[in-house]
Order: sequence, then C-alpha cells, then structure tokens
Amino acid sequence: MNFMESFIVSVGGSMVNPSNIDVQYVKNFTEILKSADVERKGIVVGGGSNARNYVQAMSAFTTNDYFQDEIGIMATRMNAKIVQCAMGLTNYKIPETITDALQLVRLENTVVMGGSIPGHTTDTVSVLLAEAMGIKEVYNLTSVDMVYTDDPKKNPNSKPIQKINYKEAFDISLKSYTGAGSNQFMDSVSLLIAMRSNITINLMHGKDLENFKNAINGKKFKGTVIGL
Ligand code: UTP
Repeated sequence: MNFMESFIVSVGGSMVNPSNIDVQYVKNFTEILKSADVERKGIVVGGGSNARNYVQAMSAFTTNDYFQDEIGIMATRMNAKIVQCAMGLTNYKIPETITDALQLVRLENTVVMGGSIPGHTTDTVSVLLAEAMGIKEVYNLTSVDMVYTDDPKKNPNSKPIQKINYKEAFDISLKSYTGAGSNQFMDSVSLLIAMRSNITINLMHGKDLENFKNAINGKKFKGTVIGL
C-alpha cells in the first residue's frame, strides 16, 4: 500500500459483535489496518449486540438513560479490547478519554478505544478523536451502505446520497433521533463536531472490506461522503 493520510476508523459494533464476536471479521479488518502505511491512525469500536444485551437487561431495573449509556460504554470497551489485541497492542489499557488516547498515540502510531462518556455514541468519539489528533478523514464502517434521504425501511421513496453537507446530514440524523439506542446512520452530535472542524466522514457498509480498502487508498468506493 502507498503512504496515505492519517485517519480514524469507526467500526460499528454490529460488524465486530453482530451476535457473538466475529473473529474472522476482526482478523480481516485488522489485517487491512496493520498494512496501511500511515503516520497515525485511530480505531474506535462500537458496542453491537454486547451493548444491546446489557442495555436491555439494565432497562429492567432503571429507565435512566445515563446509566444505560454507562453500561453501553463498558460493552464498547470490551469489543475495543478484542480489536486492540488483534492489532498487536494488547499490553495497553483501553483509553477512557480522548486525552488518554492522545498519550497512547505518542507511544505507538495506532490507538484503539471504545466509548468515552454518556450522551453520545462511538460516532462522536471517532470525530472527537480526529479533531484532537488534527486528522481530517474519518471512515465510518456501519450497517448501512449509504445515507438515504429518509429511513429506507419506512419510506420506499427514499434515495441514497453520494455526497451531502453537514447541515443536511444533521437534519436527517435528527429526524430519526428517539433517545438512547436511536437508530441513526450517525449520531447528531458527531456531525456538529465534524462541521466545526471540517472533518470529512466517509460512511460505508462495514462488511465490504474491499470497498473500505479502496476508500482508504483514495479510490472510488460505495458510500456517502459527508463534508462541506
Ligand atoms: P455504540 O457506539 O456502539 O452505539 O455504543 P450504537 O449506535 O448503539 O451502535 P452501532 O455500533 O452503531 O450499532 C453503544 C451504546 O453505548 C453508549 C450509548 O448508549 C450507545 O448506544 N455510549 C457509547 C455512550 O454513552 N458514550 C459513548 O461514548 C459511546
């Protein structure tokens, strides 16, 4: 691979942990990242079914979103530990804050983390990490292939979008906000952070790793680019 710009990749929990840990997926995904010739990279891992199981069990005892988020964060960190191990960085603690992540990236050129604090998802963590590291490219590997004009499950007339600006992306994201556990293509806060620092978000389906490889190599890929 040729030398490429530093980047952050946010991998959905639904890729790493769809119902159990998908070990083969983690192997394939981390092989690509290990061979990426890049100055610095950050990997942020979502909670997937692990988070959903714990949040659901917790909801039998409290309906408080703050505490549900707390247990969701713990689940993301368990998945992050698996990815960190697959990257050969097992002897480091999973950073719990962006500031701690910055310390680690000074030792290795790669940092792996999960969630940080309640109130957002790992989408926001990935964009904050990019902002703090001064990185302008985020790859969001998720369970949808593109951003759509509306929820395609509810509106058969919705259309896929190849390029969208922050404000339009924010409006679509906010429309599908229903509180903790919302089913948004990216959480709304992450889009505001991206907008204030002009960070490009390249969103694509996480299962198609050839497509991801094309994207990080600056080749054409299937997905949506969110930018100015
Ligand atoms: P995810 O980032 O995996 O969110 O965090 P998600 O949107 O539910 O899942 P996918 O990966 O896109 O399918 C799981 C949960 O952990 C909490 C939230 O409750 C979130 O829904 N969380 C995560 C936080 O509160 N703060 C964080 O920084 C990260």
